[in-house]
Amino acid sequence: MGTDKRSHINAYTPQGKDVFYQVRRCTIDDLEGVIEVNEKELPEDYPYFFYKSILEKYSDAFLVACPNNNLEKIIGYVMWRVERAPSVSSLRLIKKGHLVSIAVLEKYRRQGVATSLLDKSMPAISKFNIKEFVLEVRVSNYRAINLYEKFKYRTAKVKESYYRDGENAYFMVRKV
Ligand code: ACO
Ligand code: ZN
Repeated sequence: MGTDKRSHINAYTPQGKDVFYQVRRCTIDDLEGVIEVNEKELPEDYPYFFYKSILEKYSDAFLVACPNNNLEKIIGYVMWRVERAPSVSSLRLIKKGHLVSIAVLEKYRRQGVATSLLDKSMPAISKFNIKEFVLEVRVSNYRAINLYEKFKYRTAKVKESYYRDGENAYFMVRKV
């Protein structure tokens, strides 16, 4: 089921553009490549079972980008999960889509890959009836902050010393 990457069954082509990459659903065989991108591009590492459990629960919103000429090669990924937490505007518990992680290999950046990954994954995680999209990002990570602002995320608060090295995070939110 959906494991043959060459079948293009789950491939998405960004609309109206002729691009060098495809965005498709992640499969269990892709996790190694996803982890490789994560380890190269982000200081936050997760154990294999963490990726696997997210893939099992939220596979429609766990997407990878691959060059058209090599659909086995992972050049970027995005993964989301759903959680229940108080809304930013009231204390009511609501369902939120939490952007767990997104990254694109340095060589392939600034060509719209992350934009395509968000474009395709946000509607997929919305299907869980979430009310907000949320994420944390390092306050120094201007590239990612710009990306999220472009997608109309707004900083709701600062989480002090959120990262292990002591850096603060912006907690960014977008209503669905
Ligand atoms: N400088 C300024 N703004 C940037 C830059 C940059 N170098 N790169 C991306 N952006 C912003 C811009 O607003 C850009 O729009 P524009 O090109 O029209 O100006 C917008 O992001 C979209 O750019 P894309 O080409 O779609 O983004 P890209 O594929 O390069 O990926 C990403 C962006 C994911 C932030 C990439 O730089 C990356 O992998 N960084 C390392 C990993 C990382 O920081 N991930 C986010 C951590 S937070 C979290 O995961 C919840
Ligand atoms: Zn988070």
